[in-house]
Amino acid sequence: MSRETVTITDNRTGKSMECPIIKGTHGPPVINCQSLYKEMGMFTFDPAYVTTASCESRITFIDGEKGILLYRGYPIEQLAENSSYLEVCYLLLNGELPTEEQMKSFQASICQHTMLHEGLLSFYKGFRHDAHPMAMLVGVVGALSGYYSDLKTDIKSHEYRMGSAIRLIAKMPTIAANSYKYLIGQPYVYPQTNLSYVANFMNMMFSVPREPYKFNETAIKALEIMLILHADHEQNASTSTVRLAGSSQAHPYSCIAGGIATLWGPAHGGANEAVIRMLQEIGNVKNIPKYLKKFKDKSDPTRLMGFGHRVYKNYDPRAKIIRKSCHNLLHELDATKEPLFEIALELERIALSDDYFIKRKLYPNVDFYSGMILSALGIPLNMFTVMFAVARSVGWISQWMEMMEEEDLRIGRPRQLYLGAAQRDYVPMDQRT
Ligand code: ACO
Repeated sequence: MSRETVTITDNRTGKSMECPIIKGTHGPPVINCQSLYKEMGMFTFDPAYVTTASCESRITFIDGEKGILLYRGYPIEQLAENSSYLEVCYLLLNGELPTEEQMKSFQASICQHTMLHEGLLSFYKGFRHDAHPMAMLVGVVGALSGYYSDLKTDIKSHEYRMGSAIRLIAKMPTIAANSYKYLIGQPYVYPQTNLSYVANFMNMMFSVPREPYKFNETAIKALEIMLILHADHEQNASTSTVRLAGSSQAHPYSCIAGGIATLWGPAHGGANEAVIRMLQEIGNVKNIPKYLKKFKDKSDPTRLMGFGHRVYKNYDPRAKIIRKSCHNLLHELDATKEPLFEIALELERIALSDDYFIKRKLYPNVDFYSGMILSALGIPLNMFTVMFAVARSVGWISQWMEMMEEEDLRIGRPRQLYLGAAQRDYVPMDQRT
């Protein structure tokens, strides 16, 4: 078998080494340079990991140039069209689509674990009345590790790992809805096992005693699609955080709490909220030209939020799907003329035909539409990143499980380029100038 390699030569000494090239199923091959330090006494330098494959994975594949997103090999378009969020969860966790019987049993396990331990409810009371719901999510999910500490001792068992995944997926909507209820001072609504995953979440968010939530099928479908599209996105910042924390064999729920904390940042999970804040600032369709000028002005740091993507350079396949779902929802709710959505739709129309955006391949991304969907569903702005976290919990835990199943699991330990002071001698305080 031909063993392809890359030769690395240190031009200072002429010393060379061969690094094996490893090819995956899709995507660029990687250079295995793990023995670089041993052979050449050097580290690689790649801040923000822009060119480093940090792990092997069989879960999700992205091709940013071609606009491809696959979960376990299945194109996102087919899953969004045909699957439920729970079916996608099963796929991400197990690697295969479920049979009817497997799906029934999976659904039953999820339903069984939707309730929170009553002791966990008192955690909410410790938060200030105006705490950010993401702060609650970090805290309460981290606290789950105190309730399921048996998982730590059995971390090597597949059965316990799957149990921890099912509990997490089941409880995330309850934890998220309780944060909202706490903030608005309404009683918590207990999960209902006769409702679908998404319908149950909406009911826990919006029903109050003696006033059941009025279900709208288009709204439920729009939210279901949003959850599917955000379920996993390979080795992004929050997923990498979960993997790094997990590499120390920490409790899975404390690793997930780390992922949630990473997602909270505006550079990661906060963009859909930023879209709505931008629309609110624009305020009126007639202000759009003035703002477009601002977005294009290089001396002004303001950007058109919800446009552009670091990885998807031609189009974001998720945006194509969610756009349709967003337009359907706005029509169904008769909301296209509501000021915020009117501005968004007009902005979308103008920007898509504007030379500046066309030339730079700047298309609306998934956040442009998910912000509008969540807003149309009545989900408050500070809950947007929470919704993203609910959807992504399956991705985080699937990636954690995959890593824990590696035969040779090693703790993650990046190296550094030290630029601090050179070694020097301690100076006693009375001799310092
Ligand atoms: N509005 C105006 N101009 C933009 C925008 C935008 N949203 N995005 C990129 N540009 C311009 C840049 O100024 C640059 O112009 P130049 O070539 O004349 O200098 C050109 O397009 C290329 O932009 P880069 O900054 O190189 O693109 P990069 O890949 O670094 O940025 C990013 C991607 C961060 C997403 C950017 O497009 C952006 O800030 N978008 C708005 C924020 C947003 O919607 N974020 C969510 C991303 S999706 C997600 O996280 C799920």
